[in-house]
Amino acid sequence: MCGIVGYVGPRQAQDVIVEGLRRLEYRGYDSAGVAVVDEAAGLIASDKRAGKLANLEKALGVDGLPAATTGIGHTRWATHGAPNDVNAHPHLGAEARVAVVHNGIIENFAALRTALENEGHRLVSETDTEVAAHLLERAVADGADLTSAMEEVCGRLEGAFTLVAIDSQDPDRVVAARRNSPLVVGMGDGETFLASDVAAFIEHTRDALELGQDQVVTITRDGVEVTTFDGEPSEGLHYVVDWDLSAAEKGGYDWFMRKEIFEQPRAVADSLLGRHTEDGALQLDEVRITEDELRDIDKIIVIACGTSFYAGLVAKYAIEHWTRIPCEVELASEFRYRDPILTRDTLVVAISQSGETADTLMAIRYARSQRAKVLAICNSNGSTIPRESDAVIYTHAGPEIGVASTKGYLTQLVACYLLALYLAQVRGTRFGDEIATIVRELEEMPQHIQHVLDGSDAVYDLARRYVDHRSVLFLGRHAGYPVALEGALKLKELAYIHAEGFAAGELKHGPIALIEEGLPVFCVVPPRGRDQLHAKMLSGIQEVKARGARTLCLAEEDDDAITPYADEIVRLPKVSTLLQPLLAVVPLQLFACELATLLGHDVDQPRNLAKSVTVE
Ligand code: F6R
Repeated sequence: MCGIVGYVGPRQAQDVIVEGLRRLEYRGYDSAGVAVVDEAAGLIASDKRAGKLANLEKALGVDGLPAATTGIGHTRWATHGAPNDVNAHPHLGAEARVAVVHNGIIENFAALRTALENEGHRLVSETDTEVAAHLLERAVADGADLTSAMEEVCGRLEGAFTLVAIDSQDPDRVVAARRNSPLVVGMGDGETFLASDVAAFIEHTRDALELGQDQVVTITRDGVEVTTFDGEPSEGLHYVVDWDLSAAEKGGYDWFMRKEIFEQPRAVADSLLGRHTEDGALQLDEVRITEDELRDIDKIIVIACGTSFYAGLVAKYAIEHWTRIPCEVELASEFRYRDPILTRDTLVVAISQSGETADTLMAIRYARSQRAKVLAICNSNGSTIPRESDAVIYTHAGPEIGVASTKGYLTQLVACYLLALYLAQVRGTRFGDEIATIVRELEEMPQHIQHVLDGSDAVYDLARRYVDHRSVLFLGRHAGYPVALEGALKLKELAYIHAEGFAAGELKHGPIALIEEGLPVFCVVPPRGRDQLHAKMLSGIQEVKARGARTLCLAEEDDDAITPYADEIVRLPKVSTLLQPLLAVVPLQLFACELATLLGHDVDQPRNLAKSVTVE
């Protein structure tokens, strides 16, 4: 989950690389480093520093590294070795002829390291990466060019890696390899870029080439050559990036996260675009699983991590209610280790904003090995998870830079609703006019979300008044229960305080013991309907209030029944129970963002976290 940049072209490599790293810092910020080929001296020049990119920039100062037009850079999320200067990337070979940056984990590095040390190599860091630098340098010293050296070395590595290397004796090329970690090439006019994410080079080009599994790519000013690890010619997948730089910048907000919260009406609208006819029939052409196959499905298992898992929990309510297909939801990291029952009639739905989460990817591979069909719901075009799935529904949230997921989550919910409705349509479990009614309600969601956002000042005021509390609970029922879990996760990861979500009905079975005088408890109140949900939630709220909690209720506009039991009320537009998560989560996102801001935390880059978690 590190960020990687490579560049060859006419500009100053250091500038292009540092700018690229700035856009990739969300991937990890334990350290940052840059290396360039100092052609005049025939050497590698490099600098690297623990901590955020700003530390590296300070160290580079005004003069920076020597002028150079080929280089690589790295921003790290530490796996092997403490986040200090020595373990920061780039790593150099024994003679400092080759420099390497790496994302992922080389699983057999210990054996390789021992072998190198037995041959007299002295490795200075605790990282798994340094072995690759030594092996590559030895291969070029033995006469291989950097491309063949990369092919040969990658054949010996196990695990997940994107490796990018430069050779001081071969100044006009950067060579990279990809296995299980992301890598894209940007093809400019007389210049070529490499990065973990297009955000790093979108300022310069939108022409991109996605690398496949086990491929080596050599970039020069004039273009790109792709080979396999066996040295056979190969090809990447060419595409044009359809978002621009302004989408990746803060646009006047203090945090990317806040900007992304406010982008949610547009993101939801975009995710609905073109997915139904005017009369409300679903058209998900991208689902490359035939209607016959969808009719044969007898079980759905949703797999995901973190916030995406909570989107999956909402999906279960919608899928089972609208399609009557049994649906399980499971943490991707648990799924494949418990011997799940899968057949060719099982549909596994993998939800991932980044499309790179290793736990989810490994679960997908396991599911496919058991012949289950896998459908991905993903926000990142061309990432690994959709590529390794049988089908994909892309969410159209645009780039999500804030580490805490917000618009990614809302658009995942939309994709889940669309999938559930599509299955209901194909299998005939709902009438066409019922589906059309729900689709119309979904189409109204962007304006409802905007309405909730228009009330953000009241939520910020709540954050100010509750800023001193060190513990907050969240209660929900039915589709509101995953919202409570997501509200608690947002607060934990951003404000670093104790926060827990509970199913309101479960409270009396134990957690109610946590309630004490003045404890803030957010209550996601379901809409009043024909079912008992609202009345049951009301009882739960009374129970905590009676024990001294402060009740912060999210309730629909004219819900007067709640008023006597609510210390604070945030009003939500009236919508159906299953769609309410799209609205109810928004004040909780705003609350967490504001509270963390008031506490002086870095909202976009919370401590210990990274945007895409590409290790298991
Ligand atoms: C929380 C958050 C994480 C991610 C999780 C899965 O705000 O962002 O919990 O949801 O790491 O990531 P993706 O969806 O990229 O697979």
